[in-house]
Amino acid sequence: MADASTTSASSPVPAPVPGHVAIIMDGNGRWAQRRGLSRSEGHRAGTRAAKAIVTRARELGIRHLTLYTFSRENWSRPKDEVGLIFDLLVEYMKGELQNLLDQDIRLKVLGDFDGLPFVARQSLSHVMGKTENCRAMTLNLALNYSGREEILRACRSLVEKGVKPEAITNEAFAAELYTVNQPDPDLIIRTSGELRLSNYLLFQAAYAEFYFTDTLWPDFDGTELERALADYQSRQRRFGKTGEQVTV
Ligand code: IPE
Ligand code: IPE
Ligand code: MG
Repeated sequence: MADASTTSASSPVPAPVPGHVAIIMDGNGRWAQRRGLSRSEGHRAGTRAAKAIVTRARELGIRHLTLYTFSRENWSRPKDEVGLIFDLLVEYMKGELQNLLDQDIRLKVLGDFDGLPFVARQSLSHVMGKTENCRAMTLNLALNYSGREEILRACRSLVEKGVKPEAITNEAFAAELYTVNQPDPDLIIRTSGELRLSNYLLFQAAYAEFYFTDTLWPDFDGTELERALADYQSRQRRFGKTGEQVTV
């Protein structure tokens, strides 16, 4: 398997690409509405876009890609819409397993796994098991995910383990998060023109760069991803230092 840590020869995006890109895939409903289609059609088109972005991200050498697929708050949507989203997820798992293996992509889930519908858990477990040794890219699906709940869960776990207050370091805390052993996101992309985090990766986003686009998720393609990466590469990340300090 080719080394995916460098950009592919055909890529117009020069290295280095961000190690971890997290996306808030928003706007499926509005995409459908603008075409006089049902929200279901919007989610279907959104799934097609996600498939293409996974492949493109892998080609570009992104090592961790996190897709906000279903938030804990999304349970409050109409029952039919929620059902359709999970049907699409199961379909995706069935159809994409071989593609993920061929691309050396490992699947992970961030979120309250036990709270997912049984059939979704089954198909996710199957694909996670089959792809666990894949190394070119980790694809995280944030499912039944809430950033605040993730933080509370980490607190509960540390208390249960009897960890001493002084031992609760950034590292010890991060080890209790769903993203354990994965780097923080370098770049967070949100589509559809909304300018908010919607409870996404609250702890991990501390020094992420943000990229917002009006493009609705089903229209977000490889070219749009490259545009976001180029924008990211034009920025100077300072991590609290002065501009002069980071350029020397
Ligand atoms: C994102 O698209 C998909 C999910 C949240 C599951 P939306 O369904 O939120 O689309 P809009 O925001 O209504 O357009
Ligand atoms: C965020 O989108 C969640 C996902 C993309 C899965 P929402 O559409 O649920 O966010 P809000 O409600 O507009 O903040
Ligand atoms: Mg939305």
